[in-house]
Order: sequence, then C-alpha cells, then structure tokens
Amino acid sequence: MICSNLEIINGVLHFGGRNTVELASKYGSPIYVMDEQTIRRNCRKYTVAMKKYFGDNAKAFYASKACCFKKIYSIIESEGVCADVVSPGEIYTAKSAGFNMNNVCFHSNSKNDFDINFAMDNGVGCFAVDNIEELEAINAFAGERGIKQKILFRVTPGIDTHTYEAVNTGKVDSKFGFPIETGAAMAITKTALAMDNIDLAGFHCHVGSQLFDSDVFVRSAEIMLQFIADVKAETGYEARELDLGGGYGVRYTENDPEIDIEDNIRQVAEYVKKLCRELNLNEPAIRMEPGRSIVADAGITLYKVGNVKRIDGYKNYVAIDGGMGDNPRYALYESEYTVVAADKADEPCDFLCDLVGRFCESGDIIQPRIKLPETVARGDLVAVLTTGAYNYSMASNYNRIPKLPVVMINGDDDYIAVKGETLEDLIRNDV
Ligand code: LLP
Repeated sequence: MICSNLEIINGVLHFGGRNTVELASKYGSPIYVMDEQTIRRNCRKYTVAMKKYFGDNAKAFYASKACCFKKIYSIIESEGVCADVVSPGEIYTAKSAGFNMNNVCFHSNSKNDFDINFAMDNGVGCFAVDNIEELEAINAFAGERGIKQKILFRVTPGIDTHTYEAVNTGKVDSKFGFPIETGAAMAITKTALAMDNIDLAGFHCHVGSQLFDSDVFVRSAEIMLQFIADVKAETGYEARELDLGGGYGVRYTENDPEIDIEDNIRQVAEYVKKLCRELNLNEPAIRMEPGRSIVADAGITLYKVGNVKRIDGYKNYVAIDGGMGDNPRYALYESEYTVVAADKADEPCDFLCDLVGRFCESGDIIQPRIKLPETVARGDLVAVLTTGAYNYSMASNYNRIPKLPVVMINGDDDYIAVKGETLEDLIRNDV
C-alpha cells in the first residue's frame, strides 16, 4: 500500500486502523475521511526536523489552501504549526477556530483593500507581499492604525521545477512575486525600507508543488541567501527571516517516490549554515510552508458505484456517486490516483476501466485506465487514496451537487469535522 495508514483485513480496506465499509455504512457515501493521527504525524516530521536542524527560531506554516476547515487549525496549532492563509475566508476560518492570528501569514498575489483591512483587523501577524500596489496599501492602512506591519516579500528565484505548469511558480515569468533577476526584488526592498509603517522581516519564495527533486530547496536557498547578501551589501539591511515555501511531493501511486522529509530538511539546513558562513550572514530564521505533505495522505474519499458500463470493442466505465465536484484534480491536471475496491480488496483486479463521476461533463474522470475486480457492481464501495489535499478545498457545487462531509477518525473515535451540504444549503443565498 502507498501509505502505512492503509491495510487490507479480510478483504476490506482499513484506513487509520478503521474499517472503511463500516465508516461508509455509518456516515453514508460519498464522504471524505481524514485521519487526525496522520495529520499530527506529518506535522511532527516538520516541527521536529526544523527544530533539530534549523534551531528554535524555525517555524513550519501549514498552507491552509491544501485543506481548510476549523478542526484542521486546532490540530495543527496543537502541534506547534503556524498557518499560511490566502483569503479572508481562510483568515475567518482560522480565527473562528481560535487560532493565534499572530502565527498567521497572509499570502495572495491580489489582495484588495478589504482583504488587507480584514487581515489587519483580525490581527494577522505577517503579510507576504507580492506587488507594489499592495505594499503601498499596507503602508497606508498600517499608518492609519499607528502600527508597523510585519511583511515578507515574495520573490521569484527563477527556478524551473519541471512540474506541471499550473503549480510551477518559482520562474521569473510568473504572476507571483518580484523577480530577483530583473532587479525588481532589490528595487522594492529599497522602497519598503524607506516606508514608515512597514517592518520588513525578510523574504519568501515558493517554487512549486508536488516536487521530488531533493535539491529544489537547496537551489532556492542558495539564490535567496545570495539575494539577502546582495541586499545587505547595497542597503545595509539584513533579512531576519527566510521562508522557503512548500512543495514536497506525496505518493499518489506506487510509482511516486517517498520523500524523507527529515533528511531533506537536514540537507537544506547544512547548506544554509555553510552558505551563511561563506556570505558572512547571520542565519535567518527559516520558515517552510508545507500543505500537501501535511494532509494528502491523511485523507481518502469513499464512493459507491452507481453503474458499470461495458462498451464492447471500446472501453469500460465505472461510474460513482461523486466526481469532479469533490475531486477536480484529474480534470485539471491529469493527476494520478490509486483506486481500491474497498469492500473487495482481496479480489484480483482484471477489469480495465475508467473511474468516472456523476457530473454532466465527459471530462468528469477521477482516474482513467484503472483495474478493479471483474465483479464490480452497483453498490460496491470504492476508495480513492491520498485525497486529503486539494480535494475538499477545491470542491465545487457544479450541477448543484452538495459538497461532501469530512469525517475525521482518531484511533477508535470518529466524528464529523465538516457537515455535508444539504439541498437547503444549496439555495441558502438564492433570492
Ligand atoms: N506556499 C505557497 C506560497 C504556495 O503557493 C503553496 C501552494 C504552498 C505553500 C503549499 O505547497 P504544497 O506543500 O501544498 O505543495 N491545486 C494544486 C496545488 C496548488 C499549490 C499552490 N500553492 C494541486 O491540486 O495540485
């Protein structure tokens, strides 16, 4: 199995030690199931390794966009993890969960005046600033409040990570951040240093997502530290924080490698220390922003089969009771997933088919060319693995289909972390 929280017992898929058939009969289908223990284990990989190799000032920020609801914030906060947010909605959710807002960093490449004021009113600790217009607005609104707002600049180190285009964000030609190469990052730094209400803490970069090259963070650290040294030489200002972003990949299928996060962090830390010595810099406090690697393998989605269509001479389709509304990732990125016949997990899988959803669109495919048991039939339970990241958070109401509940398991305990939407919820804002 692709993750240690999965096992097959008497032909039934178990997740986080729990029988998936029993969970589906208790909570219905389709449902997202998330395992609190796996989230906690993943948080600790970062908190332990970062403290060990980068020291006490290092901090992990969970990128909420991967999966955002109140309970996640309580879990990560109790693990000593801070949060990265990108919208008033994520800020509101964190605040409603009682999260310490000083430990929140507000991203987004297009924050409007409402967003900025909302973040300040809610005590968000830091802004990752992406453009000059935003910097000027923050300076003005901080001035109105008589505060100095802590910020980081998001800069693009110019690294091409060879991942799929939509998540390849570290290149110079990107809507995110100030490029180092063109001089824009240096120029905006000088502008900020002259502003009265801005406390520039340092710099941020995020070069991509679902990354497996162990040297990506080392390469970005090298460029960022050189930039910090250049800024110091030109202005005398020395950054006290460096955020290397998120991006470690997870295993969606057996073909994906397993990343040893602790060892990766050790390598990055050794490199950062060495480079700081060479560049005569104080070591900045290091921040990382994992999203996917905190929650992806902590989630699976359980569906029921609705029908099996065998088109002789062409293809077979197995249609389920969910689809692109709860998991748009194949439709958007052709993302790979592992699919398991959860209630027939011991049967040989010889039936080649596409697993498709219920949405009115041919592109509504969860995964093409998978193999399920020949006996697959209406009512069978199917599990799609590694759906904890960018599934619930990217869900839509296309076709007016309600969003699924999130069922959380924690050892023998299980509870609803997010209720499923009702039909009434769907028309709540209609007038
Ligand atoms: N920090 C920043 C500034 C980011 O933009 C992101 C992700 C992260 C951290 C977290 O990266 P992670 O550790 O999750 O790779 N919807 C796409 C992924 C988009 C990622 C956007 N930024 C997907 O479903 O694959």
